[in-house]
Amino acid sequence: MLDTLSNRPDLPAEIARRRTFAIISHPDAGKTTLTEKFLLYGGAIQMAGQVRAKGEARRTRSDFMQMEKDRGISVSASAMSFDFGRFRFNLVDTPGHSDFSEDTYRTLTAVDAAVMVIDGAKGVESQTQKLFEVCRLRDLPILTFCNKMDREARDTFEIIDEIQQNLAIDVTPASWPIGMGRDFVGCYDMLNNRLELMDRADRNKVAESIKIDGLDDPKLAQHVPANLIAKLREEIEMARELLPALDPQSVLEGHMTPIWFGSAINSFGVKELMDGIGTYGPEPQVQKATPRAIAPEETAVTGFVFKVQANMDPKHRDRVAFVRLASGHFKRGMKLTHVRSKKPITVSAPVLFLAADRELAEEAWAGDIIGIPNHGQLRIGDTLTEGEALRVTGIPSFAPELLQQARAGDPMKAKHLGKALMQFAEEGAAKVFKPAFGSGFIVGVVGALQFEVLASRIELEYGLPVRFEGSQFTSARWVSGDKLAVEKFTAANKQHIAHDNDGDIVYLTRLQWDIDRVARDYPDVTLTATKEMM
Ligand code: G4P
Repeated sequence: MLDTLSNRPDLPAEIARRRTFAIISHPDAGKTTLTEKFLLYGGAIQMAGQVRAKGEARRTRSDFMQMEKDRGISVSASAMSFDFGRFRFNLVDTPGHSDFSEDTYRTLTAVDAAVMVIDGAKGVESQTQKLFEVCRLRDLPILTFCNKMDREARDTFEIIDEIQQNLAIDVTPASWPIGMGRDFVGCYDMLNNRLELMDRADRNKVAESIKIDGLDDPKLAQHVPANLIAKLREEIEMARELLPALDPQSVLEGHMTPIWFGSAINSFGVKELMDGIGTYGPEPQVQKATPRAIAPEETAVTGFVFKVQANMDPKHRDRVAFVRLASGHFKRGMKLTHVRSKKPITVSAPVLFLAADRELAEEAWAGDIIGIPNHGQLRIGDTLTEGEALRVTGIPSFAPELLQQARAGDPMKAKHLGKALMQFAEEGAAKVFKPAFGSGFIVGVVGALQFEVLASRIELEYGLPVRFEGSQFTSARWVSGDKLAVEKFTAANKQHIAHDNDGDIVYLTRLQWDIDRVARDYPDVTLTATKEMM
């Protein structure tokens, strides 16, 4: 393990010990199980099973929707903080389903690293690949956990090769599995020359760790069957010859991923992975902003909203803005400037997402995630600061890929529906467009499942039945350009014009042809598929 807390000895220790990361995986690879073990070792829960226990009153923050439980997908992201050794881990949960890619993308703007979980039998699956590509856009360091080694898994070299080929990243083994499936006995820790032995009798027992002096140590024979020793020696010799050695700098730059093998359900390999996150995962990083970047050690507190969750507690119509602190030492009651409105906000009741419960945050540091309850002032992409008016950049909003017309089940409630939709738009759960012509709302999403989730939430949280019906439009583009040209364009294309929930003008399209036509006929007007949230 590293002697210092991070590569930046100049950072205040409280910042240097923070590790803010997300887990990316394909559904069923074991993300929930691994999260649970993280929390168990982080002392955040007392007993395994608490995170997923069905029918229990206490649910994880990400599990609060019935629908999510039914479908086994994670609809909304949440954050959990816990200590592990000298480190403070902030685990930000990513929605697992591909329909929620925009939410996921924004969640990943709030972390400094990602843990990629793959199933040892299935390798790199489609959703892992997609999420990996998002991480790559930001050069996020990735640590890999190959799970379910207690079952029949693929050959170790094959797994490593697949990651290297499919994801174009160097893979270095941090541990090496010994045996597989029924014969799996544990791993050889390649970084510390240790044997880690799995206890099949007790799933919650942490693996026994035996220090050995290399692969020729006679102690090996006391713990590992002879046929497996020969194979292990041969494989490790090959691995050392064929695979790159661990290069911490390359890991930090996102070019190399260390891989640990284990079995989350058997608590095996998890501690080693957590040690790895502490040692190789980065401390809070510099945040891109305009007019200048923000360094974590700056004394003035700055943070940005990457997620808004409405109605976390159905009894109180509160909204919580999830804020990633980019710099400084935050204290409860602090007055921060809301950069977009230039208004001061006194943060008197911040929430720190300690895994077991919401708790008031007395203080927090750069790297932490805090929740700020509010009545709608705080939107995704907003920056809060104690110092100069900086604005965090790189939090995009994407054009929706599916559009539908929203209709209130009860026509008398159309106005209420509008309000509910706007709230979901501000949460980032959907795009809501108010057409310039005609009545009603057009709702845009990235994946069809989002319509179902929205309808169920609107009914559950607002008691409003809603129907989504086909619309003649298929996508939307934000409109910008010379003021006069935009005015002329909108006046001539009223049937296609709408406003999003920020009041920005959008052009609703039916076919690519519409977009091409605008490019041809209105050279001074620009249509864009993404909008920077601010
Ligand atoms: P996810 O959040 O990535 O979707 O995966 P989750 O942790 O829910 O795990 C998916 C399934 O894989 C679960 O089984 C879980 O128990 C199992 N699993 C997780 N880690 C391991 C492991 O190391 N070895 C083995 N053999 N299985 C593992 P399930 O039957 O779907 O759910 P449950 O009935 O166990 O709750």
